[in-house]
Amino acid sequence: MNKRYEEHPATLHSPREWSLVEDAYDEKDNQRKESLFALGNGYIGMRGHFEEGYHGQEGISVRGCYVNGFYDTAPILYPEGAYGFPSEGQAMINVTDAGVIKLTLEGETFHLNRGHVRFYKRVLHMQSGVLHRLVEWESPAGHRVLIHIRRLVSLTHRHLAAIHYEVTALNFAGTVSICSAMDGDIAEAAAPERGGDPRLGARRTEPRLLFEEAGSDGRGGGWLKQRTRHSRFALLTAMSHRLALPPSAAFSLSEKHDGQRLSVQYDVALRRGDTVSLSKFISYHSSRETREEELQMRSAEVLQMAESRGFDGLAEEQHAYLDAFWSRADVEIKGDPALQQGLRFNAFGLLQSAGRDGRTSMAAKGLTGEGYEGHYFWDTEMYVLPFFTFTTPEIGRALLEFRYRTLEQARQRAKVMSQRGALYPWRTIGGEENSAYFPAGTAQAHINADIAYGIRQYVQATGDEAFLVQQGAEILFETSRFWVDLGHYNPARGGAFCIDGVTGPDEYTAIVNNNAYTNLMAREHLRYACETAGLLRERYSSEYVRLERKIGLTEEEILGWQQAADKMYIPYDEELGIYVQDDTFLSKRKWDFAGTPPEKYPLLLHYHPLVIYRHQVLKQADLVLALFLLGEQFSRVEKIRNYRYYEPLTTHDSSLSPCIHSIIAAEIGDLKAAYDYFGRTVRMDLDDVNGNAKDGLHTAAMAGSWMAVVNGFGGMRLDSSGVLGFRPVLPPQWESCRFKVMHRGRLLEVFFDKEQVVYTLREGEVLEIRHDGERLAIRPGEPIRRALSTNREPSGGHLTN
Ligand code: BGC
Repeated sequence: MNKRYEEHPATLHSPREWSLVEDAYDEKDNQRKESLFALGNGYIGMRGHFEEGYHGQEGISVRGCYVNGFYDTAPILYPEGAYGFPSEGQAMINVTDAGVIKLTLEGETFHLNRGHVRFYKRVLHMQSGVLHRLVEWESPAGHRVLIHIRRLVSLTHRHLAAIHYEVTALNFAGTVSICSAMDGDIAEAAAPERGGDPRLGARRTEPRLLFEEAGSDGRGGGWLKQRTRHSRFALLTAMSHRLALPPSAAFSLSEKHDGQRLSVQYDVALRRGDTVSLSKFISYHSSRETREEELQMRSAEVLQMAESRGFDGLAEEQHAYLDAFWSRADVEIKGDPALQQGLRFNAFGLLQSAGRDGRTSMAAKGLTGEGYEGHYFWDTEMYVLPFFTFTTPEIGRALLEFRYRTLEQARQRAKVMSQRGALYPWRTIGGEENSAYFPAGTAQAHINADIAYGIRQYVQATGDEAFLVQQGAEILFETSRFWVDLGHYNPARGGAFCIDGVTGPDEYTAIVNNNAYTNLMAREHLRYACETAGLLRERYSSEYVRLERKIGLTEEEILGWQQAADKMYIPYDEELGIYVQDDTFLSKRKWDFAGTPPEKYPLLLHYHPLVIYRHQVLKQADLVLALFLLGEQFSRVEKIRNYRYYEPLTTHDSSLSPCIHSIIAAEIGDLKAAYDYFGRTVRMDLDDVNGNAKDGLHTAAMAGSWMAVVNGFGGMRLDSSGVLGFRPVLPPQWESCRFKVMHRGRLLEVFFDKEQVVYTLREGEVLEIRHDGERLAIRPGEPIRRALSTNREPSGGHLTN
């Protein structure tokens, strides 16, 4: 194991199985906490900034509100550009902050760095989906209040968020003012400091949202319409309020418009012991998904509905939604509360950030921060998608629909790259390529094969052939065209099909010939495209004819895909008995790990890319990822040999890496390494393992922690015929593990402890699975038990090429 991964980081959050708790406010940690306490529903994202702001210390916070898929564009300036470099970059923008609420007691405004905080607690409840903050505050003049704030971003109404703000006067009678605002003037000051970290993207100096109109209803409701500067998308943010007063208390309401800031102030005369509460309902709608002329009407409808349900009604719905989610997605481990907390936090985070309307996807940092400018990467198909495919398939489908919706842009990109077919962007929001650094961007053509893999896994796991026929096939065919056009039959390799000038998943090795991962995945992709063409021809002939006409598909072309797959070149070194990452990898010098002090990691922040490219050093799992994804094609011995070669060369500077190593380590029986890598993944953000959680959470690692349990310790694999197999191994630290997976409409529960494995069908009809190679039919009401195998026999066949 690489030496950086031997020490454990301190646990930053005390482990609670279903919640995340903060007992004291510490401004040093504020930005990281804003990411951790972010709420979202796949459409709206709100960082965990405080309603009242930060009194003279605004720099300690990145107030962030985001709308998935809502972006502005700006020219990308290249002092030394070249043909085909993307000319425009898209960035998820920080939109109007509608969560502002300021409290004033007899003229003194509440802030955590004023007066005296007598009690403080913030709790994110993952079962109810509500964020609580409880503060007992004494103003400099000695007035004490208890403030209880509840916040939710509705999982059942995607345009809606709500805040319930409750104040009790503990030791005084007097005027309490609650000023609730919407602030559309998002200063660049709110954006994170870049500090030379390329992962944050470009800093923009001009406001990206421009004011168009605003209005109010005189009853505490207001709206603001803005437009993005370059992409010209409209956004309508609206708010409404409900005040609950103690009997016979008097109040007055005043409204204010100040540029892009709309506020409503309630002044309430309280007696000692009285409680007043304000429910605030917030809606966001954009012209990306709502017709512009309907923006106002739609938001009025949403707010009206919210007012009629009230905060408590919405909270109840939220709870019910999450009950259903957890009944499928929960992974329970007994024996390690810190890891248990991490797993739930991660699953909850994935649910909060994944787009689910078919128009949006999952940003690398979700809706929790502006790292990577809110771009979607291969992270979605390779990491996030499996979690949804096997727990919440409707979200899985929506993520894939996004790729179908952006197929045209992928076709255009292939043209620019002088290729046939379609090439998906390495990073995007709207579908166009956004990568300004092509060696670790456009060169990662494996994105095409990753999407194909995601489609296949989704279709096999759900049986959703309708998706395959209506959308998936066209993606598969257009992207197959790209491979056949990109590669060539190389006489210098005995006529094998070679793919030159690409970058594999490992971004510390760039622009190489025959990246083994890419070639292996492209081969799989081409085979699946041929299989799909066969299926359509046989069973969906009219759709097939339609598609043939639409994209000019010919039989000859399909034979060409088959041939390229059959002749695909996979680099292999006989002497070492390993697959070679690419044609030149083994001839490079190995990185001097012993001479690299810990502060020089991640290498990308301390060495020029060329220095890194000249060495055998990996940022993240590359061939090891193929060992997992295409497991049936490798023998156990091959897995061990390859893992042992690449593991010591891997820095895991990418958060996408440790989970994959955990899975393969578990498969080859190295439970210690598997557990260690799992620990790194599962608490990546809770313990800030990579030190940049402040810029947003690492969604691929979050999903990777689910994979590390289900595919790693649970040994789950979907074989080429679509049958689920398991080979559970229990880390000695655990008493037991339980997870559920959806397969073709059935819900299967897998439980294993130190002695046995129990398979129980929770929903649906009989399901055929494999346990350690043995075929089992699991019927409703008839759980099947098997002893936990400790004997890890070689599995799978040998790779031939
Ligand atoms: C990784 C990529 C990943 C991107 C976004 C990079 O550090 O190397 O594989 O897609 O982060 O998460």
